This record gives sequence, C-alpha cells and structure tokens, in this order.
Amino acid sequence: MPDLTDDTITAAVLSTVRDTKDPRLAEILQALVRHVHDFVRETGLTEEEWARGVAYLTRTGQACTPTRQEFILLSDVLGVTMLVDALGHRRSAEATQNSVLGPFFRDDRPHLPDGADISQGLPGTPFFFEGLVADHQGAPVKDAQIDVWHSDSDGHYDVDVPGLSEPAMRALLRTDDQGGFRFRSIRPSSYPIPDDGPVGEMMRATGRSVMRPAHLHLRIAAPGFQHVTTTLFPTDDPYLDHDPVFGVKRSLVAAYQDHPADTGPYGTTTDEPYILLRHTFVLEPARPAPGPRRI
Ligand code: BEZ
Ligand code: FE
Repeated sequence: MPDLTDDTITAAVLSTVRDTKDPRLAEILQALVRHVHDFVRETGLTEEEWARGVAYLTRTGQACTPTRQEFILLSDVLGVTMLVDALGHRRSAEATQNSVLGPFFRDDRPHLPDGADISQGLPGTPFFFEGLVADHQGAPVKDAQIDVWHSDSDGHYDVDVPGLSEPAMRALLRTDDQGGFRFRSIRPSSYPIPDDGPVGEMMRATGRSVMRPAHLHLRIAAPGFQHVTTTLFPTDDPYLDHDPVFGVKRSLVAAYQDHPADTGPYGTTTDEPYILLRHTFVLEPARPAPGPRRI
C-alpha cells in the first residue's frame, strides 16, 4: 500500500477508473479527475475554500425544482451550455446558428394557423414576424415545424405573467409551400435571468449583468434537416454585448422595422404603430446515419 502524496494521488485515482467498461465514460472520468486535481493544484485551494465550493454546489442543487434548473443556469452563465452546443453543432457559415434553449420552452404550446396572433391579447407594441425557411440552395422548406416563444414587454414569459393561466406568446406553426410562416405578437423586452439563487449570488460577486437582451426564441424542425434552436435579437438592444448566457451571435442580430399605424403586413391593419421583423432561416442537411461499427 503506497503512501499517497500530492504528487502521486492523481495517478492513483486515475488507475481506479481506467478499467471502466464503457470506454467513453472511462475517458470522461479520467479527464474530469485530471482537470479537477489540476484546478486544486493551480489555485492552491484551501480547505475553507473547498468547503465553500461544496456548500455553493449544495445550494445550487437545493434551488432546483420541477420548474427551475439552477445547474443548467450555472452552466449557461459559465459558457458551458454554449460551448457544448458549439462542439455538437458545427454549422456552415451560411446556415442559421444555434443559441440557448433556455428554461421557458414548453411543449404544451398551442398549434396555431399561419398569421395567427400568438399574444392572446396581452398589451404591448404590435410585433409582426415574417419568416422564410430555406435549404442551402435557397429552395423553400415546406411543412417545417416552427416553435416560437418570447417574453412580454415587461420581460415576463407567460408562466410569470400574473393572472395568466393559458399559454401565450408561444406557438407551434408550420411553413407553407413557399417555406413561409407568419405570426403577430407583442414586442419582447430584455429581462434578467433568474437571479434570486446561487447563480445570482455569483453574478453579483463577479459584477456581471444579469440582463438578457430582448429576444425571440425559435426552434425549427423539418425532415431531412438538422433541427435548429435559435434566438433573434434586435440591433438596438443595450445588452447585446453582455448577454449573461453567451447566446448572442452576430448573424442572429436583426433589424426591427418601425411602421406607422394602419399599414399592417400581409393584408392586416393595426391602429397602432407596429414593428416588423423579417428573417430567413437556412437549415443544414441532416447528418448521414453512422455506418456499422468495424470491430
Ligand atoms: C432564456 O432566454 O429564456 C434564458 C436562457 C438561459 C437562461 C435563462 C433564460
Ligand atoms: Fe428567453
């Protein structure tokens, strides 16, 4: 039985996981052990700091509920979510880029017809959206499923709007034969990520902004193409450069057009000035299925 020292303990722990049956799990566990040990060595972590770290992670777990995932939020603000996403979805430059899904997607959203008002009558600046879904050659992708969801003008998603029991500002739509889809809603606003838990504590300790720039979430799925989970941000938002979850990409920043009253798009009329956003989404072809593994 060797006496373990700070020089030999890493190799000793690595030897205990090396024979893990699942080779990928073995690889991940070994890398985890190496990096955590290096982290402790590099920072010269004290017992008190280690105990504070353990207490922090314990509180992060305790903050999780069926409707709140503090660990994913921690991953978001540490850039891990977007890093995993970037490695898993290497898109060509012309394809629509991914962004964070976030905690507000719901699959009990209404299926609404093209051109529907998805705001359920909530107050706000009228916001019209005209989208086009195409492939790399510019050919329309018909019958694509489009999920959209966004916040209201106070930065609340429907689940947080007082007195609202039905889904609002979210819908599942489909593209028509020309790859087009349209909806009406209200202008989304910037809002803070949930900051009353351990993640908020860390954001304050590091002096970081908790404000996400205003945005519209979309998830697009069509047979023969890779799914894309993305977000569009308006060009004039003051928080674009400091998104706490690192979801902003230049290609996802789009200009909102201001329009006067009475001239609504696609045959509609409004008695208030409104905003129109047009955007084309380019889908990446589905990856070929992996061939049989050679032994
Ligand atoms: C959101 O945009 O809905 C979101 C994303 C990550 C963390 C919190 C909120
Ligand atoms: Fe959001």
